[in-house]
Amino acid sequence: MITPSMKGIILSGGTATRLFPLTATTSKQLLPVYDRQMIFYPLNMLVKAGIKDILMIVAPEHSGQYLNLLGSTLKKFGINIYFEVQRVPRGLADAFILGESFIGENNVTMILGDNIFEDDIAASIRDFSSGGMIFVKEVNDPQRFGIVEFDESGKVLSIEEKPQNPKSNFCVTGAYVYDQRVVEIAKKMKPSSRGEIEITDVNNAFLQLNELKIKKIEGEWLDAGTFDSLLEAGNIARDKKLYENFDPIIDQAIAEFNEELKILAKKKLL
Ligand code: TTP
Repeated sequence: MITPSMKGIILSGGTATRLFPLTATTSKQLLPVYDRQMIFYPLNMLVKAGIKDILMIVAPEHSGQYLNLLGSTLKKFGINIYFEVQRVPRGLADAFILGESFIGENNVTMILGDNIFEDDIAASIRDFSSGGMIFVKEVNDPQRFGIVEFDESGKVLSIEEKPQNPKSNFCVTGAYVYDQRVVEIAKKMKPSSRGEIEITDVNNAFLQLNELKIKKIEGEWLDAGTFDSLLEAGNIARDKKLYENFDPIIDQAIAEFNEELKILAKKKLL
């Protein structure tokens, strides 16, 4: 049997209504978080984890912008970026349906395009072997999140989406690692009452198989999906110098892209 490799997906579509009107003119994940576009933060985690094939799932209206930014910058470093358009934001688990042929017989790490992690989760991604793995973080307002209950040994007991009476304060963050079975699991899922195919159902499917593991994260974590969290993300990125934790590949790709833009700008001025 061929050993599966790890593929990466960044889910970067959505409607981003909470950031209107900023997102009337661009994609949320292309907004700045301090000195670079938000998308580079999840991309960095995948590159740090040694992932060579990365699928960007984008909304149709922003596909050109993503292609412009990422279409050729990483190829020379041996990282292949693929694109898939998500016409309708059908939910987070749609990533595995849209990514079916991309994932093939391999494992996959999916990160939400608006999630920023201070911790280096790349080592856990590298160590993954099979089943499902999620990253959990203690929060003060558990009613807003998918909440994980687990025992002292770290065994997951339940996961509930936005519970009124949360069984713990640990929420599921936006990075998920699964083996190839995730595709069939996602394809069988029915939309929830809010009309989306839910990642919580994927996690519950691996939980029922007794194959869901958690990793606690200690550092800052946020989704930059509101005005306040976007501002906070920028402040954290600056104050904690998150730009120092980037893989040199990403830094160099950004620098080369900037250089190209400067040359083009000069040409236009002549
Ligand atoms: P959300 O923040 O839940 O949704 P959103 O980005 O559309 O924003 P809002 O709630 O303000 O309308 O999405 C989390 C991340 O997942 C974000 O990076 C967008 C992405 N996403 C998709 O790409 N496709 C989808 O179908 C959904 C639901 C989200």
